[in-house]
Amino acid sequence: MSESPAGRVPEGAAPAVPPTTAPCQPRAAPGPSAPAGDQAAPAAERPAAVEFRDVTKIYTSGGGRTAVAIDHVSFTIPDLVGHGEISSFLGPSGCGKSTVLRLVAGLEPQHPPTSGTVTVLGQPVVGPSADRGMVFQDYTSFDNRTVVDNVAFGLECRGVARRTREAEALDWIARVGLDPLRDAGKYPHELSGGMRQRVAIARTLILRPRVILMDEPFGALDPATRLDMQDLLVRLWHEVEATVLFVTHSVEEAVYLGDRVFVMATTPGRIAEEIHMPAASAPARETQSQPWFHEQVHRLQERIERIEAEAQRPNGPG
Ligand SMILES: Nc1ncnc2c1ncn2[C@@H]1O[C@H](COP(=O)(O)OP(=O)(O)O)[C@@H](O)[C@H]1O
Ligand SMILES: [Mg+2]
Repeated sequence: MSESPAGRVPEGAAPAVPPTTAPCQPRAAPGPSAPAGDQAAPAAERPAAVEFRDVTKIYTSGGGRTAVAIDHVSFTIPDLVGHGEISSFLGPSGCGKSTVLRLVAGLEPQHPPTSGTVTVLGQPVVGPSADRGMVFQDYTSFDNRTVVDNVAFGLECRGVARRTREAEALDWIARVGLDPLRDAGKYPHELSGGMRQRVAIARTLILRPRVILMDEPFGALDPATRLDMQDLLVRLWHEVEATVLFVTHSVEEAVYLGDRVFVMATTPGRIAEEIHMPAASAPARETQSQPWFHEQVHRLQERIERIEAEAQRPNGPG
């Protein structure tokens, strides 16, 4: 994994990951928001946190070639009051995981879908919005800003006064397990991969998004750091009570983190299975030694292998 060059525009930069070091970007479009009084509504009456209804995305390349990235994808992730949920999206490369996530984020060229509807908190997605924060695998911090200025960036864009935003940023730096005294003044190149992802998470969560979109955020980390980051995510997610959509290649990660796991198949990209899992309540290392965990991982690994074998057959699946 290479490091982001200075000022590089992170692919698919969401509002929490602004695309330049230059002035803050204006909101691209009004984002969906929950209707007034919605918080009090019982779960059955509340709009879903995220809903895909029959969503197809076909990319057209320069030469007029088309590629069906996802085909008639439908799923519903409920908005649980004071709770939130982590949904894992698991599947082989090219099955449309990033397409799904970026459609929720409202980012081009995935947005808008070719057909079907994507809604967040009951409102159709019309573009990016700060109520959906995104964390990528690539380290997306600004190389010429210190940790505290990276974490405070979104608040700066919102016009929050320096003293207030720095105090809040220092609080978040501590909450993601960094040392405010030692680390706040460092630049990204002085940090390890795990520390940089902690900064990326702090920078996203400081804006309190209702929906957090994570695209293989721990994919470049070593196994031990990865487990630490999984524990951190579960702890923070309990605090912020957001709905998390988490894309991963790792079956273990999907099973540990996910309250539900969407298994995706390829050619064309689609949801093959939706499985409910026990919520992550114990630390990752403890959970991963339990029999139910091994059974689920084994079953899902076999499922993914079958999906990969099908995709490699000359006539594809079916
Ligand atoms: N901008 C694009 N233009 C053309 N094809 C694309 C584009 N983005 C993704 N694809 C294709 O769509 C399919 C799904 O891609 P993606 O959502 O990135 O899958 P995943 O994240 O599961 O690896 C792949 O076949 C990929 O090559
Ligand atoms: Mg991807």
